[in-house]
Amino acid sequence: MRHLVEQAINNAYEIAQRSLEDFRGGFPTTYSTNNVYGKATNYEWTPGFYTGYLWLLNEYKENPSFLAVLEEHIRSFRERIDQKICTETHDLGFLYSLSCVAAYKLTGDEFAKETALIAADELARRFRTNGQFIQAWGKLDVPNNHRLIIDCLLNLPLLYWATEVTGDKKYHEMAYAHLKTALPNIIRGDYSTHHTYYFDYETGKPSYGATHQGYKNDSTWARGQAWGIYGIALSYEYTGDDSLIPLFTGVTEYFMRYLPIDSIPYWDLTFTEGDEPRDSSAAAIAVCGMLEMKKYIKDEVYCKKLEEYIERIISSLIKNYAAKPEDTTNGLLYKGTYGRKSPYNDCPNHGVDECVLWGDYFYVEALMRIYKPDWKMYW
Ligand code: GLY
Repeated sequence: MRHLVEQAINNAYEIAQRSLEDFRGGFPTTYSTNNVYGKATNYEWTPGFYTGYLWLLNEYKENPSFLAVLEEHIRSFRERIDQKICTETHDLGFLYSLSCVAAYKLTGDEFAKETALIAADELARRFRTNGQFIQAWGKLDVPNNHRLIIDCLLNLPLLYWATEVTGDKKYHEMAYAHLKTALPNIIRGDYSTHHTYYFDYETGKPSYGATHQGYKNDSTWARGQAWGIYGIALSYEYTGDDSLIPLFTGVTEYFMRYLPIDSIPYWDLTFTEGDEPRDSSAAAIAVCGMLEMKKYIKDEVYCKKLEEYIERIISSLIKNYAAKPEDTTNGLLYKGTYGRKSPYNDCPNHGVDECVLWGDYFYVEALMRIYKPDWKMYW
């Protein structure tokens, strides 16, 4: 396993190195077209994933060209938050944890720390007291936008971290309040999950669950379930709240139950065979969550089970989904799906069966977690 993982990191490293100039002065697009990313500005919810995997690869083997690009990225993230370029979103956590928090944790860069704290304040502004949650997308104080989404669990670490470095408890309290609102509503009785959950704008009471990127409202979007697995693990790391453990095992078991034969999910867990596209990114996210939570699970039998799951998924990603240096791609992981239109959702068909930037990031993070078990996370 270790040899396989090391070879896989080397492959990712080589691809990142040879495609560095493709994105110089910018970032890869959110998803590839025919497995090739174009160049984009620092605008979408995804550029931080590129910065994040360059940090990871630079930790693996220090590289002056990566470091030069990373320095440019930190300035770009500062400009973005100062000028409020596409910052009206909870995705500030994805953006700033993997770029500026990572820079601060790895190098002690005070400018990066200050930048991430500005982003944390902006994220905290999205906390809705009426409902006790962080609003996902769109303008605040608009009744139709009064909802959270499961993905937001990955944005909470920016707030937990802000409390750690400032001593101001308000960030942690907001993150924990969001968690306590989100989990009982978004996790169904059988441990499948809703993608989004709406709250009454007047009373703040939970209203109903719905989907945006899943197949239909009562199905389970594969990446949503994976955000649940990793999101719960990350909140456990920061809160030590033992009530999260059965939720973690519940959502993990549900995810594993609906995997096809090669252990990589279709884009929605409704599908377990056939020609629907996969979402390799969901597998990579889930495996990071399992690797994180394995550190805290005391039940040895369940730990063994998690180890088997991790090995099955990561071996399949490496053997069947990862790009090789000789391939004509500038992505790292094939067969992700950003959004798949169905007769029942309101999502456009985009980035289907392509490399997706977060898939590349979580794939490299999973490899790093296995390669270097004492790896300190950027979240
Ligand atoms: N957080 C957006 C997505 O997973 O597509």
